[in-house]
Amino acid sequence: MKSKADIAVLVSGGGTNLQALINAEKKGILKSGEIKLVISNKEGAFALERAKRSGIRTSVITKKQFANQSDFEDALICELEKNGIDLIILAGFMAILSEKFTSRFPKRIINVHPSLIPSFCGDGFYGLHVHEAALKKGVKVTGATVHYVNEITDGGEIILQKAVNVLEGDTPETLQKRVMRLAEWKILPMAAEMVSQMLIK
Ligand code: GAR
Repeated sequence: MKSKADIAVLVSGGGTNLQALINAEKKGILKSGEIKLVISNKEGAFALERAKRSGIRTSVITKKQFANQSDFEDALICELEKNGIDLIILAGFMAILSEKFTSRFPKRIINVHPSLIPSFCGDGFYGLHVHEAALKKGVKVTGATVHYVNEITDGGEIILQKAVNVLEGDTPETLQKRVMRLAEWKILPMAAEMVSQMLIK
């Protein structure tokens, strides 16, 4: 039995959620898992820089390196299995993963989504678009969700959620920042610890 779950974080952009996980590991909030690998599907993603600064192995696997989705997913699977990864965390990973990928790691992939699922989720709802839709609808409360990943986009079992108030005069950008700071950066490390603990039992 491993003493810690080996974690891979999949990213595409700025990597503030990755940073929250790194900080949580340093503080001992994430203690049952260790971030061993960061994979980006975008070259030059700032998240890669954050990983390198913390001495975490990085890898770039982009879709355009491959002929099709299946070959792209094979490359991801190969990298994850080669590194003995137990838990995969999607932290702002902006690529859709098919059933071929998700069924390979049942209850071993989690994702952070910037709304209270089942609101503002599914295909087309990612990043700022989620907050634009929430403001357009006029909701007074939004938040973030961490859930298991299965073949349905944002459809897997919910692990943790946290609500955040929408304030008068919010823009998608101000709302995104508040949801990250008050919800995502808190519940993602908590969920990572909960799932890591279950995986090493
Ligand atoms: C985060 O708000 C995350 O919840 C969202 O993208 C942002 C990535 O920021 N993910 C999705 O919309 C997935 N459907 P980060 O790179 O700074 O962590």
